[in-house]
Amino acid sequence: HRDLVAIGRLERHEILYLLDEAEQWVAMNRGADKHTDLLAGLTVINAFFENSTRTLLSFEIAGKRLGADVVNMHAAQSSVKKGETLIDTAITLNAMRADAIVIRHGSSGAVELIAEQVDCPVLNAGDGQHEHPTQALLDALALRHALRDRGHAADDFTGLTVTICGDVLHSRVARSNILSMQAMGASVRVCAPPSLMPAHVDAMGVEIFHDFDAALAGADVVMMLRLQNERMSGQFIPSPREYRHLYGLSKARLELAAPDALVMHPGPMNRGIEIDSDVADMADRSIITRQVEMGVAIRMACLDVLTRRRRGVAGWGDAA
Ligand code: CP
Repeated sequence: HRDLVAIGRLERHEILYLLDEAEQWVAMNRGADKHTDLLAGLTVINAFFENSTRTLLSFEIAGKRLGADVVNMHAAQSSVKKGETLIDTAITLNAMRADAIVIRHGSSGAVELIAEQVDCPVLNAGDGQHEHPTQALLDALALRHALRDRGHAADDFTGLTVTICGDVLHSRVARSNILSMQAMGASVRVCAPPSLMPAHVDAMGVEIFHDFDAALAGADVVMMLRLQNERMSGQFIPSPREYRHLYGLSKARLELAAPDALVMHPGPMNRGIEIDSDVADMADRSIITRQVEMGVAIRMACLDVLTRRRRGVAGWGDAA
């Protein structure tokens, strides 16, 4: 079988394939009948070792709309709290004969570790500071829809400049999005305070900024990241007031970007810190709620495509 652990493991054509597959689910989700029996008889386990609203709910909704039996394991109420190891937890989930396991974990690499222990496809719902691949896919789908609404004919992002700003150091969303936006043809700028800019981005082919105004100049898309206070471990960061002043997206600052530049944020937002409410809620520019909408469709596509071999359906190969 094949897992979905990282955007870095996908070819460009595979990213495009998943986006294209998701379109049917966008259409279905907008209609009156939001249910199919495509995955009837399959069991999907969502094992979340970290908090989540969007990812957990959208994977649950995605599985249910596809007709699967969906079970959620919340780490706070599980035997993880009694000291059970990650590997033993994985072996336990495997023994229950799940057909797909969706995992969020606070440690980078934990999802890969579980994927090596189980017999079914594993989908990464965010592992530490490593990757959040379905977030990057839903972001690409949301951007593609928003661009189409504006008459952009191409299916990819060639010629666009995407500025990603915020707590890049702790952001699995940033890493997955850098990779997917580049695969889709965009030029990517990354902006953060020096203490929140990880060394590895140097090698990722992005333009690096510490001055947000410069990073915004002429950008077509501005993706803001949450300041992840729960992951800070002694980094020097400006106070919330200073942070907003230096790196917060206000309406005035958005004027520096291209006319009609689109605004994105993966959520949850710190309103008034990395993004002002009047920007987050701009009906014509912000696509934040559309990102959430696309999350369900993308996760339906991923669950469908990754379980095809188990269902005896030809499809996406089983490499990687
Ligand atoms: N964007 C995102 O992963 O949100 P949740 O933490 O609420 O799932």
